[in-house]
Amino acid sequence: MTPDHYFSPTPGAAQRPATVTFSAGGRDYTLSASAGVFSNQRLDPGTAVLLRKAPLPGPRGGVYLDLGCGYGPIAMVLAGTSEHATVYAVDVNTRALELVQANASALGVADRVHTDVPEDVRFDEIWSNPPIRVGKAELHVLLARWLPRLAPGGTAWLVVARHLGADSLQAWLAGQGWTVNRYASQKGYRVFQVTAG
Ligand SMILES: C[S@@+](CC[C@H](N)C(=O)[O-])C[C@H]1O[C@@H](n2cnc3c(N)ncnc32)[C@H](O)[C@@H]1O
Repeated sequence: MTPDHYFSPTPGAAQRPATVTFSAGGRDYTLSASAGVFSNQRLDPGTAVLLRKAPLPGPRGGVYLDLGCGYGPIAMVLAGTSEHATVYAVDVNTRALELVQANASALGVADRVHTDVPEDVRFDEIWSNPPIRVGKAELHVLLARWLPRLAPGGTAWLVVARHLGADSLQAWLAGQGWTVNRYASQKGYRVFQVTAG
């Protein structure tokens, strides 16, 4: 039997609607979540550190990826930074993607938040609280798939708990040729700024 994790493609847990409220970038958010989706009762503390410590993109806008979006807290904040922000949100969990679409509609940004990513799209920024618990091998495959889709000069912002292997992930990324800046640390989490070369 396959255990039902938040990263199951189709959660077996019954839908149990939940609401998550938080503030980021000077705005208040009330988002829909549900059982079977990561951190569905409160904003994950790692995500909170990422949104507090990493510099949110400016009003000029750009093309952003929320990698492993869950119900979409990072995607919604990125969409809220500018009318010119286009956000792609990806997850293996189909329930998470439905919640992202519902949250984007509720916030009036559904036209700028997409859960399908055309092959040719490149990202000015990738933001992620990545799924460490899937295991190193799968995590590395995931990052090796998406980081090369940064546009020239683009930046990825990642948050990882120190006790879940932030430092070994940093070493792996550096070994893959990425420049990794330990941008901030708070409450046991590290925020990495990842750029090419
Ligand atoms: C640590 S959670 C973060 C969720 C959300 N960004 C948040 O801050 O609440 C990581 C997410 O990655 C997703 N995930 C796991 N494996 C994935 C994969 N191969 N591709 C995309 N997303 C994946 C999980 O389903 C989960 O929603």
